[in-house]
Amino acid sequence: MVRAALKIIFPVLLVSTGVAGSETVPVKEKPPELGPSLQAIQETEDTARLLAILLDSGRYVINENQDLFDDPNKEQKGFSPEVFERQLIEVFRSRSGIDLQELQSARLPRRAKEMLTVLDAVGKKVVAEAQPEINSKGVGFKGFIPAVFGLRVASRFTEITGVRLKQTALAPRNPLNAPDAFERSVLQEFADPSFPREKVISEVTAKSKSLRLMFPLYTTRQCLTCHGEPKGKLDKTGHLREGLRLGQNAGAISVVIPIQ
Ligand code: HEC
Repeated sequence: MVRAALKIIFPVLLVSTGVAGSETVPVKEKPPELGPSLQAIQETEDTARLLAILLDSGRYVINENQDLFDDPNKEQKGFSPEVFERQLIEVFRSRSGIDLQELQSARLPRRAKEMLTVLDAVGKKVVAEAQPEINSKGVGFKGFIPAVFGLRVASRFTEITGVRLKQTALAPRNPLNAPDAFERSVLQEFADPSFPREKVISEVTAKSKSLRLMFPLYTTRQCLTCHGEPKGKLDKTGHLREGLRLGQNAGAISVVIPIQ
């Protein structure tokens, strides 16, 4: 399903496409002098969507290894940057159909290849720097969780590339993740149980020549140990549980990327 609506403030072009990624971006009549070409928009959107999938794939890998990190009886966890990357490659391939090891020959915009390479490298660096944390002895919960990984990776990535990646939710635990007006309205759409699963929503802002994309996140069983029931009870991080259920929307990854 594809929805398109034209806002007239900037003007802003609002588009949404399926996460499967093959649907084309619908564009209403638009005077050419107002902004970037359709091809530039499409390539930018593809890049933004793949960056969100890769960041979320990294979050997923961290989540899957949470019990290993938090084992107080084991010192060396063997979760090296290389182990992380191997798992990341698998998850990303199953979700996007793209092999990070074969990026150069992949049919992707050049920019997507470059950005995915940077994001992969930043993820590995964050895991490398977290080794003392992950391997600390006699400590149970270490706080190296998907959101912390995501925040570290996203801020480093933004510094290097100028592309903003952010994890956000309607009722954020970390005020730094609070949604802006656009993010809030999209999060409200995602929260509607009838919203199509995994559909991204994106918007082109002609004035700032950038594209914004929101990629929905859903709970897996592991997320629920912190974000699940019973609502209002403290989780092991000392935050109140949200009372989410399995498969429910848990927020989004927000991308702001200049259109080239
Ligand atoms: C070990 C507990 C724990 C687990 C497991 C966990 N989270 Fe979180 N989550 C947190 C904490 C704590 C924060 C706030 C982190 C911070 O201060 O930046 C957070 C933040 C977030 C945010 C950013 C918005 C906000 O509230 O600040 C999203 C989105 C999110 N989690 C989704 C998930 C999803 C989806 C999963 C499963 C894939 C998951 N979390 C697994 C504890 C957890």
